[in-house]
Amino acid sequence: MNIRRATADDLFGVQATNLQNLPENYLMKFWMYHAMTWPQISFVAEDHKGRIVGYVLAKIDEPEDTDNGAKKAEVHGHVNSISVLRSYRRLGLARKLMLLSQEAMVSVYKASFVSLHVRKSNMAAIALYRDALGFRVAKVEEKYYGDGEDALSMRLDLSP
Ligand SMILES: CC(C)(COP(=O)(O)OP(=O)(O)OC[C@H]1O[C@@H](n2cnc3c(N)ncnc32)[C@H](O)[C@@H]1OP(=O)(O)O)[C@@H](O)C(=O)NCCC(=O)NCCS
Repeated sequence: MNIRRATADDLFGVQATNLQNLPENYLMKFWMYHAMTWPQISFVAEDHKGRIVGYVLAKIDEPEDTDNGAKKAEVHGHVNSISVLRSYRRLGLARKLMLLSQEAMVSVYKASFVSLHVRKSNMAAIALYRDALGFRVAKVEEKYYGDGEDALSMRLDLSP
């Protein structure tokens, strides 16, 4: 198993993995935009034949300028999508992918925290974020998903 930064060549494999694992799917331009704009913070896991078996795709939210010139928010990372193929689960791949992305968010962009959304019924992902990585629930966003399910908005402080 090899875990490394995602490149543009990986994106069809990433998209195929996403389609197998999650109901939230995206057009290729979405994957491409993220990989091109923030190339340091998305990672893939590949098997011995080079097939993508897991990925994390992340972005950076930059502070916006307010009218009085102050910055409105801190620079932070946001995990858009993560998944691991079923037969490769519980091997620590998702945890490793998340940790690599978080490290790069800090070292490259000086991100002060990382956020994400997760379905409130997704016990495996919640256990990963809360128990294995230390995220906390910042708020519940009602009917966030297309089918009406609520999302937990979770956060992890990345400051030293
Ligand atoms: C959630 C998901 C990414 C986890 O991937 P994974 O590679 O199996 O996770 P890891 O092996 O790194 O797990 C690390 C820890 O997370 C927790 N965890 C992961 N899966 C779990 C499960 N099914 N039940 C309970 N805890 C779980 C455990 O604490 C685990 O540590 P342990 O194995 O030592 O007990 C994977 O189940 C998946 O792809 N699910 C479908 C897509 C999805 O839901 N993505 C998240 C959308 S927000």
